[in-house]
Amino acid sequence: MNATRTTLHRMAATAVAGVALGLLLSVGPALAQQAKIKVGLMLPYTGTYAALGTAITNGFKLAIDENGGKLGGREIEYFTVDDESDPAKAPDNANKLIKRDQVDVLVGTVHSGVALAMSKVARDNNTLLVIPNAGADEITGPLCAANVFRTSFSNSQMGIAMGKVMAEQKKKTAVTLTWKYAAGDESVGGFKEAFEAGGGKVIKELSLPFPQVEFQSYLTEIAALKPDVVYVFFAGGGAVKFVKDYAAAGLNKTIPLVGAGFLTDGTLEAQGDAAQGLLTTLHYGDGLNNPKNIAFRAAYQKAFKSEPDVYAVQGYDAAQLLIVGANAVKGDMSKRAELVKAMEAAKLDSPRGSLALNKGHNPIHDIYLRKVEGKENKVIGVAVKNLTDPPRGCKL
Ligand code: PHB
Repeated sequence: MNATRTTLHRMAATAVAGVALGLLLSVGPALAQQAKIKVGLMLPYTGTYAALGTAITNGFKLAIDENGGKLGGREIEYFTVDDESDPAKAPDNANKLIKRDQVDVLVGTVHSGVALAMSKVARDNNTLLVIPNAGADEITGPLCAANVFRTSFSNSQMGIAMGKVMAEQKKKTAVTLTWKYAAGDESVGGFKEAFEAGGGKVIKELSLPFPQVEFQSYLTEIAALKPDVVYVFFAGGGAVKFVKDYAAAGLNKTIPLVGAGFLTDGTLEAQGDAAQGLLTTLHYGDGLNNPKNIAFRAAYQKAFKSEPDVYAVQGYDAAQLLIVGANAVKGDMSKRAELVKAMEAAKLDSPRGSLALNKGHNPIHDIYLRKVEGKENKVIGVAVKNLTDPPRGCKL
């Protein structure tokens, strides 16, 4: 090839590249709008909380499907990680979704210890995080952040509600039992605070490591202590076993067992007779007679051929909250300040009833008193109306 032809070729190539670049620049924003929004689901799909992770995923996807499969007009691509409810693996798992998969939003998780680690990674990377279960009080308290939201509850809320109800029922003494980690400690802490404020006394606080289920020695101790009531925090597979063991030991005939509603949510099929009559407090009840819950339950049953539970509701509401935010910025998730503002102001029509967020981005909602009847957690009253957390050092 002679020099002139080489130069001509180069000029032509440069011109083509220039046109291509110009084209790219002009369609760039449009392409960005059309690109899928990446949603990272970091949840437990194995272990004692496996069913909880699945219900959250189902609820989340149901709300998105009802919204045409989109967020703010953009299609969605899901990235999924099984976090195994293992706090030690949490930073790596969250980083995989944020750094490798470059998700636009992280949704997770169930276990408070894992969520505490996730929220740190989310804060460090300024990634939007929506928590569809884990109730660690700190996350929406002193550790609150503009990019971190929760559509579930805080751990102390259920304990506060049950402590109040038990004091009103004139119970004088209580023993508590839980897995020893943030969720159990805070749930029991809320119970103790409200029960003792109402004139009761917690005479013994028992605990075992998560997710152990060898309950026998604790049941023996409870039988010897003979309190007026036993308050527990257990969930998932562990809750199924605890309720069955409590009944098998005959304690359900002599000492009333109460708990945060996770004790009997999504578990009644497996607990059967052992759960009958148990009182729990929770921000949801199967038979809530509002139009949203009726429609939600029918749609969930149709889509997944199973009954929804509180976890499905929380996943559904996580997606509902993101839809409000994404719609406000027409799918442009980079408009973070506007997105956050819309999510903060959201008033969701939740299957639980109305749902608003407090300053720390934690739900303000009614906490119901429920009683197990057959395969239903029947709402028999409102334990605390519009329960909201104190600011607890949140500086938003
Ligand atoms: C938690 O770890 O925060 C947690 C786990 C399971 C529940 C509720 C709270 O059902």
